[in-house]
Amino acid sequence: MNAITINGAAYEVADAELELSLMRYLRERRFLRGTKNGCEKGLCGSCTVVVDGKAIRSCRTAMKKVIGSTVLTIEGMEYPDGSLHPIQRAFLDAGAVQCGFCTPGMEMSAYALLLKDQSPDRESIRKAMKGNLCRCTGYQHIVDAVELAGKIMREQGISPEAGCLAAPRKTS
Ligand code: FES
Ligand code: FES
Repeated sequence: MNAITINGAAYEVADAELELSLMRYLRERRFLRGTKNGCEKGLCGSCTVVVDGKAIRSCRTAMKKVIGSTVLTIEGMEYPDGSLHPIQRAFLDAGAVQCGFCTPGMEMSAYALLLKDQSPDRESIRKAMKGNLCRCTGYQHIVDAVELAGKIMREQGISPEAGCLAAPRKTS
């Protein structure tokens, strides 16, 4: 049995799908197209998702390596009532979104960082996001956004995974 949990829902992966990359599985089999295909070579970070709490490049991750894992994509980040996760809100408020192509991967890397450390300094943020490329923003606003997200979560006393679909839930 090849089970995987994605955004809180459990799926059975067919044997024929084990050779796919996680990125292709998410986009083509689960239609979760917020995970972007920027290069498919592990170079741009636009395909970043969170697997068992760690940010990984889904284009370079084979499905057979993530069987039994818990995956969070950008679609699982917003709250079930449709309101934005504090990381998403902070990216908008800090002006860190322009064309938006890099944004899902950036927010996934930010999520994994903030899981470990809710008070990262700017150097730690740059280091955690260095694998995520952006053609538009010059990165300054992205670092601002991650700082702001950490601040909001600290002030509200919430963790990154609270309330979003990161936690497993039963599906009907
Ligand atoms: S699409 Fe995976 S790193 Fe570029
Ligand atoms: S906002 Fe356009 S690539 Fe980052």
